[in-house]
Amino acid sequence: MKNQTWSGRFKLQSSELLKEFNASLPFDKELYKEDIQGSIAHATMLSKCGILTKAECDTLIKGLEAVQDEIEEGKFDFDLKDEDIHMAVERRLSELVGEVGGKLHTARSRNDQVATDFKLYTRKHNLILQDLLKELISTLINLAKSHKNTVMPSFTHLQHAQPISFAFYILTYAFMFARDIKRLRSSYELADFSPLGACACAGTSYKTDRKFTAKLLGFADTMPNAMDAVSDRDFALDLLYDISVIFTHTSRLCEELILFSSSEFGFVSISDAYSTGSSIMPQKKNPDVCELIRGKTGRAYGNLMSLLSTMKALPLAYNKDMQEDKECVFDSVKNATQSLVILNEMLKELTLNEKTMRKACEKGHLLATDLADFLVREKGVPFRKAHFIVGKVVAKADEMGLDLSEITNLQEIEPLFDENAQRLLNLEASLNSKQSEGSSSVESVEKQIQNLESFLRS
Ligand code: ARG
Repeated sequence: MKNQTWSGRFKLQSSELLKEFNASLPFDKELYKEDIQGSIAHATMLSKCGILTKAECDTLIKGLEAVQDEIEEGKFDFDLKDEDIHMAVERRLSELVGEVGGKLHTARSRNDQVATDFKLYTRKHNLILQDLLKELISTLINLAKSHKNTVMPSFTHLQHAQPISFAFYILTYAFMFARDIKRLRSSYELADFSPLGACACAGTSYKTDRKFTAKLLGFADTMPNAMDAVSDRDFALDLLYDISVIFTHTSRLCEELILFSSSEFGFVSISDAYSTGSSIMPQKKNPDVCELIRGKTGRAYGNLMSLLSTMKALPLAYNKDMQEDKECVFDSVKNATQSLVILNEMLKELTLNEKTMRKACEKGHLLATDLADFLVREKGVPFRKAHFIVGKVVAKADEMGLDLSEITNLQEIEPLFDENAQRLLNLEASLNSKQSEGSSSVESVEKQIQNLESFLRS
């Protein structure tokens, strides 16, 4: 009664309930390409090491390629009783090439096979995400280049802080995404070791060449310990964490686009092509894309927490719990990919309402720090005292119902301020007065753009 490849020692057939519960095929078919790629490398190695003949290896490779074609042409029969993609591919291979198909699994286990497939998948998507982040950074750089002189208020505690340029503001995100790329690169490097050939957990009695398969699959080297090779899912956790941080960044940007496109701010307009309407209120134009990206952040964090919890306290080596590692990663990868693509397109179409942004700079006494710095620089007043004096001027301006920038009789209010101080009450002057590295001045923004452009070339 052999209904499964492993059923030699079983007397009864599997329950239908078990078949459905146990199977990962409905989701791990996503790994078909990596599975076939890994099997081709494995067969090639077996033949190189004299474990298979050259003819057997050729037959297996041809068969595996035929299976891949069937899957890609939608002709493959995905049947739950195969359990997972590894057994499904092997079953079909044997149907196509006959008994030699059964030789493919020599010196291999599904444990090292699944670790290899899954690692190849995460590596592939790691690189795709890096490319998408690069495109996003380019879009942000373009926005920055066209808005070096577009003034807007900066905020701390969501209260008006100091005048900045839109370029300076938007480059903040470009630097976040550049760090995300570096984080992905570092995860890639950590995962650059092949598990293939570790077998069930202890290696194999065949004289295989794991370095050879590692090289064929594009890994820098092999994982040095077979038990670790089959038990490790750090590479999946790292990708989930990297994606969570990307989402942290995109959620902050999206939150600001939601705020800045509201009637209260009115700083930016999101293109109609990336906005939605309401079923009842005809006037509505909603920033759904931003809200969805913000919302998907929760899912990304959940996926990371899910796999961390699955892996917690698992005894060595492989346990079936680890089959739960895939759906969370597939979900995060799909959402991150989609989100980065649409965010990039939406930003390319973003329009700025420069007048409104400038107008917003006339509220909140944005130039107060400039006045305090004047007292320090020109009058030798200690900064703390200068801070206090300007605080008094701000209070006076409030009494007069004016913003600091609207005050024309500064010296009357505070005799320490001469006409040079009066001249400081200007947004561009404030912006460009910044001398420190990384500041909001046009000169500094240009350097920051160069910094990012050279990063993109690296
Ligand atoms: N479908 C399994 C998974 O995704 C493959 C490995 C199964 N190994 C085993 N010994 N049952 O984890």
